[in-house]
Amino acid sequence: MASLCNALLLVVGVIMVMSSCMAGVANGSNFYQDFDLTWGGKRAKIFGGGQLLSLSLDRISGAGFQSKKEYLFGRIDMQLKLVAGNSAGTVTAYYLSSQGATHDEIDFEFLGNVSGEPYILHTNIFAGGKGEREQQFYLWFDPTKNFHTYSIIWNPRHIVFLVDNTPIRVFRNAESMGVPFPKKQAMRIYSSLWNADEWATRGGVVKTDWSKAPFTAYYRNFNAQTCSGSCNSRFSGGEWQREELDAYSRRRLRWVQKNFMIYNYCTDYKRFPHGFPPECRHR
Ligand SMILES: *[C@@H]1O[C@H](CO)[C@@H](O)[C@H](O)[C@H]1NC(C)=O
Repeated sequence: MASLCNALLLVVGVIMVMSSCMAGVANGSNFYQDFDLTWGGKRAKIFGGGQLLSLSLDRISGAGFQSKKEYLFGRIDMQLKLVAGNSAGTVTAYYLSSQGATHDEIDFEFLGNVSGEPYILHTNIFAGGKGEREQQFYLWFDPTKNFHTYSIIWNPRHIVFLVDNTPIRVFRNAESMGVPFPKKQAMRIYSSLWNADEWATRGGVVKTDWSKAPFTAYYRNFNAQTCSGSCNSRFSGGEWQREELDAYSRRRLRWVQKNFMIYNYCTDYKRFPHGFPPECRHR
């Protein structure tokens, strides 16, 4: 009997510890608290008691928001449901950026398409004001049907882009080869929905169909795990602080790169006839 009681106590204890850990991770998804709507007037809105945010684009304007806080390293998750139907010509940008001419930036951009044709997920990284490190992907699902989680892991060793927890891109710190790496400037989170039909869909061939406006993208479940003061505390030994991907994540990354990557600056011979940037030698 005593041992049964002890076992039960242990189970209760484990559940309590688990729920307190999860609370530590799951709080903070309140758009009123974490973000400012910055442009587009009523085209940007927060609703559902702070749980949901939407951006719309019409003939007159797009819209955008930004985080109240700045972040220097961490794991940032956001769920997005992209413009449905004929979204050709629209771009939903979701990115981290610092300020100024020598800014750093980590970009997700979702390039819309006509109904039934695939979105392109465009990624880029700026360090010290210089970008030109594009990689593009198709997704393995329709990003307009449901919310999916888009994440950035950013620590001094690497930047990892993830989609539903599957890494799609890793940018390693190659400072030892003279490649600047974002690590000194804190960044804010930004998102905007805008018209880019000069270039976005099939390189600008397909134009925005304004008869389908307004176009709307939705956001929920923002979560940021960072180091602000708590990285040494017992339950915050964040996964994101790891310096390498584990074997399973590396396999998933290879799967995405093999099957869904449609552009990689590191293999674009036309663009770099005199040799690829040094960080490309990594692969
Ligand atoms: C749109 O669909 C066309 C045809 O399937 C495809 O070539 C293109 O990559 C898709 N995406 C964008 C954003 O152009």
